[in-house]
Amino acid sequence: MRRIDSPLTIFLVGATGDLARKKIWPALYDLFKQSLLPDTFNIVSVARAKYSKAEFADFLAQTVKVEKSDPAWKRFISTIEYVSGDVMDPKTFTEIEEAHAKIAPCGNHLWYLATLPSLYVSVVKNIKAEQLQTTQCGWTKLLLEKPFGVDLATSQQLNKELLQVFEEDQIYRIDHFLAKETVQNLLVFRFGNGLFEHLWNHQFVDHIQVTSAEQIGIAGRGVFYDSVGVVRDVLQNHVLQMLAMTLMEEPTSLDPAEIRKRRMEFLSQLEVVPSEQIGARVAFGQYQAGQVDGLQVVGYTGEKDIPAESVTETAVAGKLFVNSERWKGVPIYFRLGKRLQQSVTEISIKFKEPMNSMFSTFETPQKGNVLTLRIQPNEGVIVRLNVKQPGLELQTGEVSMQFCYHNQFQMDLVEAYQKLLYDAIQGDTTLFPQAEDIDASWRFIQPILDYLADAQTKPLPYAAGSWGPAAFEELIAEDGRRWLEPRPDMCVV
Ligand code: BG6
Repeated sequence: MRRIDSPLTIFLVGATGDLARKKIWPALYDLFKQSLLPDTFNIVSVARAKYSKAEFADFLAQTVKVEKSDPAWKRFISTIEYVSGDVMDPKTFTEIEEAHAKIAPCGNHLWYLATLPSLYVSVVKNIKAEQLQTTQCGWTKLLLEKPFGVDLATSQQLNKELLQVFEEDQIYRIDHFLAKETVQNLLVFRFGNGLFEHLWNHQFVDHIQVTSAEQIGIAGRGVFYDSVGVVRDVLQNHVLQMLAMTLMEEPTSLDPAEIRKRRMEFLSQLEVVPSEQIGARVAFGQYQAGQVDGLQVVGYTGEKDIPAESVTETAVAGKLFVNSERWKGVPIYFRLGKRLQQSVTEISIKFKEPMNSMFSTFETPQKGNVLTLRIQPNEGVIVRLNVKQPGLELQTGEVSMQFCYHNQFQMDLVEAYQKLLYDAIQGDTTLFPQAEDIDASWRFIQPILDYLADAQTKPLPYAAGSWGPAAFEELIAEDGRRWLEPRPDMCVV
């Protein structure tokens, strides 16, 4: 693995927030332990909380769950400065610069905005006010998290504001699903094997299904979630980006610009659902009390910070099409949400049945093959095939062939945030969506949001622990198809 030698400072804005605690600090420490960060490395952490440097070090040890006496941890902690302040206040940025000047030599700078998205514009303006958008002795990059805006107009506005301060090639927009090992594998799986690519089109594919289900509820993020809902939280970004990686045209090389261009092309080919068809093509749900994994849980409106009359959707299912020669007429069904029956993300390609009908009268009728790319958990790939059942008589049956990461590689998969930080530092933009992708995704999503905003639209209730409201089943059943049940036994170790 490569390591850069120039001094590096990471400015982590929002250093005590949910994302920083759960993902960024553990990822930074892992990279540090593997010696993948430069020798001269510092983090200037910024948050509102009034911590002294020592208190912040204690907070971090608890967050990352390490022994404070661990020698590697002690070295890591010695690289960190803490600035307590309001990021809306330009003075905080003077303090950031002073803290930085005290500990770090001139070098490369990475600004990581892990703060509330509503603060992004103020932060970048304040960065500019202090002239921190460049450095004399290296590069400056800006890393920021989705959501990028709350709709097409606000996303475009945000982009304009960012470009007032940073150049496009300085901006790294995060969609952490792209950095999941299994999503990265889509590129190799498709284009590194001669087996599938010629079948990857409307001639051979009957339809595609994406399930991105979570058993967890809103996990204490009520204020954020209620203003967002699942369409903005997961469909607009993670699900569309995964689909782009699975279904895009073949890049001519591994050049990041080429791969990003292919993803962007795919996203801009998504057929925008005409507003009068949304009611028939998309269904929305909101979870009620129910049992998840044997435990009783409250309904959405019983969660902390959620108003009793909230109509925020916590699950969505629908059907989309892609305006391309390759995918013409192939329906892509998606269902995703919180408090669903399983925590599972997978993409299934259902192939057409063979042209012959040799086995159609058999007791177990032959079925079209299904290839499932399991993104998480129990990561792997599974193909369902028709075979002859052993015995004197000719009978058919369905079996599966699977590849499981855990059996094959016997190692933990690299955490997405480690990969993203590593790539941003290296300057590899492959896994970062560009402004055009985000625009194209919002263009597809916007009519759905408009439909949702209509006072008449109320999400349908579903019991926590189910697969969503009956409308989710009906939506696919109308086409004579059914949801493929994710197999909990797939790749279990
Ligand atoms: C985040 C969403 O972007 O992705 C969360 O805001 C969701 O609501 C999460 O739970 C899912 O990511 P992962 O990596 O935990 O599957």
